[in-house]
Amino acid sequence: MSTVFLASARARALELGVADLVTFVHDDAAGYVADQPVDIASCIGATWIGDGMPGTVELLRRSLRPGGLMLIGEPYWRREPPDQVTVEACHATTRDQLRPLPELVEQFGEVGCDVVEMVLADQDSWDRYVAPQWLNIRRWLDANPDDELAEEFRAELTNAPANHVLGTNGNIWVGESSP
Ligand SMILES: C[S@@+](CC[C@H](N)C(=O)[O-])C[C@H]1O[C@@H](n2cnc3c(N)ncnc32)[C@H](O)[C@@H]1O
Repeated sequence: MSTVFLASARARALELGVADLVTFVHDDAAGYVADQPVDIASCIGATWIGDGMPGTVELLRRSLRPGGLMLIGEPYWRREPPDQVTVEACHATTRDQLRPLPELVEQFGEVGCDVVEMVLADQDSWDRYVAPQWLNIRRWLDANPDDELAEEFRAELTNAPANHVLGTNGNIWVGESSP
C-alpha cells in the first residue's frame, strides 16, 4: 500500500521499457481478487493479507488460472525462539505465528499446493535486506522531522538493529522462503 514503493515500481518499469505492459493497482491486498485469472499470483512478505500463509494461498487462488503459479514469501523459525521478547523482535506476535521450514513446506501440501521451486534467504542476504532500511529511515527522518509518522519511525530506528541481531544472531529466524 506504499505510494513510495508504487512510484519506485513505476519508475523501474519505465527504466526497463515495460511501462506499457504492466498495471500497478494501489489498493489493500487483503481481499483483492484480479478481474481476469492470472498466470502468476504473488505475495512476498505480507501474508497477513490472508491472516497467514494458508489464508493467503486461498486468497491468491481466487485470482489464479487453473495450473497457474503462486509465489509466496514467508519467514520461518530456524530454531525455537527462547522467549517472547525474541518472538517479538522477529516481528511475530506469538511463537505459533511462524513455523520451522519443514513444517512450512509441509503446510503448502496441506493447502493443496505442490512446492516446485524455492529460494531461501541466508544470513548475509537477510542482513542486506534489513540493514539498508535503517539508513533509509534515518535519511527520511532527517528530511521529514515534522511528519506525523516521524515519532513512529524514530522508535523503529532505535529498536530495529537490536531486534534484528537478537533475532538473527542465533540464527533464530531468517526470512523468507519463496516456494
Ligand atoms: C515486508 S514488505 C515486503 C516488500 C517486498 N515484497 C520485499 O520482499 O522486499 C511488505 C510490503 O507489503 C505492503 N503491504 C502491507 N500490507 C499491505 C496490504 N494490506 N495491501 C497491500 N500491500 C500491503 C507494504 O507496503 C510493503 O511494501
